[in-house]
Amino acid sequence: MEHPPERSSAPWWQRGTIYQIYPRSFQDTNGDGIGDLAGIVRRLDYLVELGVDAVWLSPFYPSPMADFGYDVADYVDVDPIFGTLADFDALVAAAHDKGLKVLVDLVPNHTSDAHPWFQEARTGRDSAKRDWYIWRDPAPDGGPPNNWLSEFGGSAWAEDAASGQYYYHAFLDRQPDLNWRNPAVAEAIFEVMRFWMRRGVDGFRVDVIWHMLKDPEFRDNPPNPDYRAGRNPYQSLLPVHTTDLAEVQEVVARLRRVVDEFPDRVLIGEIYLPLERLVAYYGRTLDGAHLPFNFALLETPWTARDIADLVARYEAALPAGGWPNWVLGNHDRPRILKRVGPDQARVAAMLLLTLRGTPTLYYGDEIGMAQVEIPPERVQDPYEKNVPGLGLGRDGVRTPMQWDAGPQAGFSEVEPWLPVSPDFTEVNVAAETREGESLLTLYRRLLALRRGSAALSLGAYVPMAAEGDLFLYGRAAEGESLVVALNLGGDPILVAAPVEGQILLSTSGDREAERVASEISLRPHEGVIVRLR
Ligand code: NOJ
Repeated sequence: MEHPPERSSAPWWQRGTIYQIYPRSFQDTNGDGIGDLAGIVRRLDYLVELGVDAVWLSPFYPSPMADFGYDVADYVDVDPIFGTLADFDALVAAAHDKGLKVLVDLVPNHTSDAHPWFQEARTGRDSAKRDWYIWRDPAPDGGPPNNWLSEFGGSAWAEDAASGQYYYHAFLDRQPDLNWRNPAVAEAIFEVMRFWMRRGVDGFRVDVIWHMLKDPEFRDNPPNPDYRAGRNPYQSLLPVHTTDLAEVQEVVARLRRVVDEFPDRVLIGEIYLPLERLVAYYGRTLDGAHLPFNFALLETPWTARDIADLVARYEAALPAGGWPNWVLGNHDRPRILKRVGPDQARVAAMLLLTLRGTPTLYYGDEIGMAQVEIPPERVQDPYEKNVPGLGLGRDGVRTPMQWDAGPQAGFSEVEPWLPVSPDFTEVNVAAETREGESLLTLYRRLLALRRGSAALSLGAYVPMAAEGDLFLYGRAAEGESLVVALNLGGDPILVAAPVEGQILLSTSGDREAERVASEISLRPHEGVIVRLR
């Protein structure tokens, strides 16, 4: 068992909880149906009352919005849709005043095709910026240089008619990949990081960090033997020459060194890889990402045995001193409510906020926002447009935050860019604030408990034997021992555990202070946190 870090010396990103905001959908203040930075400022008190410690903002930079901001046309400004740099400064100042950290999204793998760097690069083979991107001559038959596929459908190579060459894009053809083997590219992005840290940001979530280097020999990716027709076509090849190259760790370490130029900042990496590969992104000497995002809960079957096994494998795979983290939702994956159903949403909340490691919470999950059906004529996501019919579209997880039962759920005065979920009259912040048994109330209690508990925020994870639908574990710090018992099924469970103590919190909300001696009774879909004597 690893020795838990000292409370006072643990950095904020170990103690705290991160809340992801998708700025387009959080709060509109200027009546264009799209959220903005001033809207985030308006809602900061909500986040303080909720009890989170940091906000991570998905991109708000100038962009043609082909991929809703993940196609950056200027890394050091704010898109007028979202406001101005002055609005951003005001946001950072207000957040810091209220004790909240601010993280921004860094998208270093690719730019927009509208970025001046790419505009210059595509003027011709002799352009001074040509080598800032990845260009290749056509294959002998005139087609793409190799078989590499775009995550968003089709070949990853786009033809540039003027020069007769192709450029590589891991995502849309309007998102050309930067060439990270060119030192000038690295320096330019490092300067971008310094720009935002000087403005006060507390760290970065780095987009697709495992994509940043590609095979210098441009070898074909091999076919995926497990691929079945009808699945996501990107998965028909194994991306061994386009992602997770061993050398990418050096790039991650360099990003980390820039982050370390400023005190108390955090580097988070977006990485979709199996656990054994994921943990490499901590760096060999913990000189990589502080938190390689752990998305395993988004993919693991929702059973007690699968999740207990996942936690054990993750804890075992972590490098010595590497700090764990858990993610329950984000802007790319279906809402947790859809995945686990309303009965388990409360158990999921308790799981996320009692596991060892920094939790990341996606906006709206705390009130139980649904995955929204988007009528075909309202589809926005280019992924859905390029690869239709496979359920890959991400619009349904990006709908407007539901603040109250008023028009547009209090999000905007006009019809928003994506439809408001039809359930907003009941599922909203105002209603759930009044209701003592709401999911929002449970999140608030869990966050308050976690913040006040050394065992929950920084303590050791203590695995405990269990069977069937029961997931049982302990959390322990000096002077404090807790047991978490989660029922992932629909039948009651009697947990015969040698525990004596008192229930601190139940997902049902009505068992606080109940004494427990030698057994814990769990209702269907119930979780409890017990403080041991
Ligand atoms: C990952 C982001 O989370 C996703 O939203 C985006 O489409 C791709 N990277 C491309 O930037």
